[in-house]
Amino acid sequence: MQQIFLLTLVTLFLKVSMAQSSSGNQAPAIEIVGNKFFYSNNGSQFYIQGIAYQADTANLTGGQTINDPLADFETCSRDVPYLRELNTNTLRVYAVNTSLDHSRCMDLLQRNGIYVIADLSEPGLSINRDDPEWTLKLYERYTSVVDVLAGYSNVLGFFAGNEVTNNASNTDASPFVKAALRDTKAYIKEKGYRKIPVGYSSNDDEQTRIAIANYFACGDEDEKADFFGINMYEWCGTSSFRTSGYSDRTQEFSNLSIPLFFSEYGCNEIRPRRFTEVRTLYGSDMTDVWSGGIVYMYFEEANEYGLVEVDGDSVITNDDFDNLKSMMASISPTIRNSASYTPTSTSLSCPATNQYWSAATGLPPKPNNAICDCIQSSFACVVNSNVDKADFAPLFDYLCANIDCSGIAANGTTGEYGDLSFCESEVKLSYLLNEYYKQNGRSSSACDFSNSASLASATSTPSSCSGVLASATSESRRGGSASGSSSSRAAGVNLAPSSSPIVTLFTTVIAFLITGLNMLLL
Ligand SMILES: *[C@@H]1O[C@H](CO)[C@@H](O)[C@H](O)[C@H]1NC(C)=O
Ligand SMILES: *[C@@H]1O[C@H](CO)[C@@H](O)[C@H](O)[C@H]1NC(C)=O
Ligand SMILES: *[C@@H]1O[C@H](CO)[C@@H](O)[C@H](O)[C@H]1NC(C)=O
Ligand SMILES: *[C@@H]1O[C@H](CO)[C@@H](O)[C@H](O)[C@H]1NC(C)=O
Ligand SMILES: *[C@@H]1O[C@H](CO)[C@@H](O)[C@H](O)[C@H]1NC(C)=O
Ligand SMILES: *[C@@H]1O[C@H](CO)[C@@H](O)[C@H](O)[C@H]1NC(C)=O
Repeated sequence: MQQIFLLTLVTLFLKVSMAQSSSGNQAPAIEIVGNKFFYSNNGSQFYIQGIAYQADTANLTGGQTINDPLADFETCSRDVPYLRELNTNTLRVYAVNTSLDHSRCMDLLQRNGIYVIADLSEPGLSINRDDPEWTLKLYERYTSVVDVLAGYSNVLGFFAGNEVTNNASNTDASPFVKAALRDTKAYIKEKGYRKIPVGYSSNDDEQTRIAIANYFACGDEDEKADFFGINMYEWCGTSSFRTSGYSDRTQEFSNLSIPLFFSEYGCNEIRPRRFTEVRTLYGSDMTDVWSGGIVYMYFEEANEYGLVEVDGDSVITNDDFDNLKSMMASISPTIRNSASYTPTSTSLSCPATNQYWSAATGLPPKPNNAICDCIQSSFACVVNSNVDKADFAPLFDYLCANIDCSGIAANGTTGEYGDLSFCESEVKLSYLLNEYYKQNGRSSSACDFSNSASLASATSTPSSCSGVLASATSESRRGGSASGSSSSRAAGVNLAPSSSPIVTLFTTVIAFLITGLNMLLL
């Protein structure tokens, strides 16, 4: 009886696994060799035939700010037949809601051989080019997206940023994006997930486009981008490889050592769009250097880039759709095999700084929650919890005009990053208030700021903090030497010299702990 039951179980197991393998995974993981993508199952080259797929947030209700296209089975199942008509094998989604379930859409896409490339940020949590930071909150956002998508073989990759640096005036934002990329790659490794590639999506700015590609593609394996996308709108109406600018771009990026593709394309200055660029993009002029592209976009909206109009269950295709469909049906790009492919370019040096490019190669440190918590619990003077974040600015301005703010500052031009630069603004502000208080004789009037600050009731630094702060010091020093930066000062610079206020603070905390311990022992 038991044996029969066991046999049944074994048979059932075999049937299930055979069913799975005979139905097959239509979207086996994609791997990168040199500057190309390949199917991992058979080594066949993979070109992105993509569509940007995310409706705007206009009709959302209930305080939602993300319209997650992978969380609504009604709509993704409605749209897959149309995506297939266009020979789509990749969707770009710009923001996912990590609270929602993506399994039904992801499985449906997988069965249809469609991959997803997802931005890690969302509008409310992204690196701001005008005030760049790589913070705990952002790290948590990025890694939570990785967590919800890592299990699907049809995740092609992640974008650590989209058009963050967009011209010569804000190239100092790029080190923060590269730090995000580095830490996301490390997280994927740490969690034992599949080696999902992480890259960047750039705009097409004349003065910065070459430098930014080289910047993301250069450096150590654990901090460089795995692929590079450029949002490309140079081919409008009927154009050609030479007149469109595609020829020049192909020449300029010919040495890029990682896969390169259009992370958006499809100029709409002349409609209907004829999509004649498709033949060129997947033709012999470009396929040595490029790996395809992503048409912007599926949904027809106010900006008039759509291929279809949707209304409930109904999908109405337009002329752009028909034109793209016939163009996609006509391509036959050269398919290499990874087994017989030898990359021509494997490494690249980082771009020189000049009038248009001034991003340090030294990157901001990895956000570390424990450091912020530990240091915060040691402050004698802190910001009051009822002070609105919008009112922090004048306090920061005043404090930084009076005391050294390097511990909280982060400068992507010089590559100098304070050891608390990744903490939330409350922690940073309390750090400064506490410094100010100490430097002004610890008088209670030095911890007031019109009722914005007050003395902390009792400092109770957890005993785990001594280890955290000590390892932070050594980690930061290691980061400094490993950054490979020659022109810029590296991460952790404020921990090294003994004059640093934070080192003093760390020492104070450690001394406090030791004293506390001695008192207990007595
Ligand atoms: C390799 O596998 C992929 C995914 O199953 C498939 O789409 C492709 O046609 C295969 N390539 C070849 C040359 O068999
Ligand atoms: C929002 O709803 C209006 C009215 O139903 C509709 O016309 C419009 O297309 C919708 N917009 C989006 C982006 O779905
Ligand atoms: C994500 O989805 C949850 C559940 O529907 C919702 O409460 C939340 O507002 C959504 N988040 C965003 C940022 O839209
Ligand atoms: C650079 O981009 C910023 C942000 O989009 C914009 O405000 C600024 O005008 C641009 N500068 C130049 C020189 O294009
Ligand atoms: C590509 O590399 C070759 C060999 O190092 C070099 O001669 C050429 O100038 C490079 N091209 C570009 C566009 O950087
Ligand atoms: C970074 O440092 C440079 C050189 O000291 C300075 O000109 C620039 O304003 C600083 N940037 C920020 C964001 O503080």
